Amino acid sequence: MNTLFMHCRPGFEGEVCSEIAEHAARLNVAGYAKAKPQSACAEFICNDAEGAERLMRELRFSQLIFPRQWARGSFVELPETDRISVLLEALVEYPVCGSLWLEVMDSNDGKELSTFCRKFEGPLRKALLNAGRLVEDAAKPRLLLTFVSGRRVFVGLAAADNSAMWPMGIPRLKFPREAPSRSTLKLEEAWHHFIPRDQWPQRLSDDMTGVDLGAAPGGWTYQLVKRGMLVTAIDNGPMAESLMDTGLVQHLMADGFTYKPKQTVDWMVCDIVEKPARSAALLETWLGEGLCREAVVNLKLPMKQRYAEVRRLLERIEEGFKARKVKVSIGCKQLYHDREEVTCHLRRLDMKPR
Ligand SMILES: C[S@@+](CC[C@H](N)C(=O)[O-])C[C@H]1O[C@@H](n2cnc3c(N)ncnc32)[C@H](O)[C@@H]1O
Repeated sequence: MNTLFMHCRPGFEGEVCSEIAEHAARLNVAGYAKAKPQSACAEFICNDAEGAERLMRELRFSQLIFPRQWARGSFVELPETDRISVLLEALVEYPVCGSLWLEVMDSNDGKELSTFCRKFEGPLRKALLNAGRLVEDAAKPRLLLTFVSGRRVFVGLAAADNSAMWPMGIPRLKFPREAPSRSTLKLEEAWHHFIPRDQWPQRLSDDMTGVDLGAAPGGWTYQLVKRGMLVTAIDNGPMAESLMDTGLVQHLMADGFTYKPKQTVDWMVCDIVEKPARSAALLETWLGEGLCREAVVNLKLPMKQRYAEVRRLLERIEEGFKARKVKVSIGCKQLYHDREEVTCHLRRLDMKPR
């Protein structure tokens, strides 16, 4: 069980390797990271048997940027028939688990395997329950079986409260028909990821105000309006009429990089395609000057050294807040709906509640 297995967006395997290797070095966990390009997964092989467990204990999954899911365990080769007996045998080495997810990679191979997984899950679950390897208990580890082929599976464990919220880290969000653009799902996913569900009523409430920079046609504004907020939408482009008809949106044709609200707003969101350093500076200004209490902003990724560049920008933002003596929590994740970008969430921790 010395391997930490991680899922990611295809093409970002190198970023996952850099990120986990950096954390492992900091935590003195000896080992090495490896990944095949476009495989949508990466592994960190630890030298010591308890290395992977230590990584999972010391790190919060939600704070990792590029991994979409993780599990510690090892690979098991499966026969063509009676895979269940072989899995039951392998699981003798594992603790009794509290839930079971069957996962595949987010790749073409993975898509083909998902039909197999759907058929296999029922009989496997039954066999695990009968053998006492699975009980319904959220406090027990989650058993994550990642099929890389019908003959090879990574048998992994992860704490349910320190791993992805959805199988493979892929949220099941329904596109709202009334929303003016598919981007709407990005902001909805960001909220799921960055804001605990039980805090939604206080932090996304209908007495709040928001500014959406680069708002047209209005997918992100739609999310704010859906929560009942009064929104100032900044964009030279046109906003969807359906949103303007709600009476909750003021549309200003202005530059999102120079606009400032007259009063502190609860939310600033920004989906402008710009150089990441410019978006990072925008975040520093808005949070640093107290123009908003919370923000969600996309950072477009550079072509190379994507992990290193994101880290550098986050450190620069952090230093900016330190110099201004303001307390801000900073989160950053490549969400499922992100492509060549990551999503940042920032929150002022030292401002009086409204
Ligand atoms: C990716 S789109 C935003 C999509 C939007 N979030 C949605 O969900 O419908 C980017 C928008 O940023 C706007 N934009 C680009 N540069 C801008 C700037 N400097 N100030 C304001 N808006 C800008 C563009 O006009 C475009 O509408």
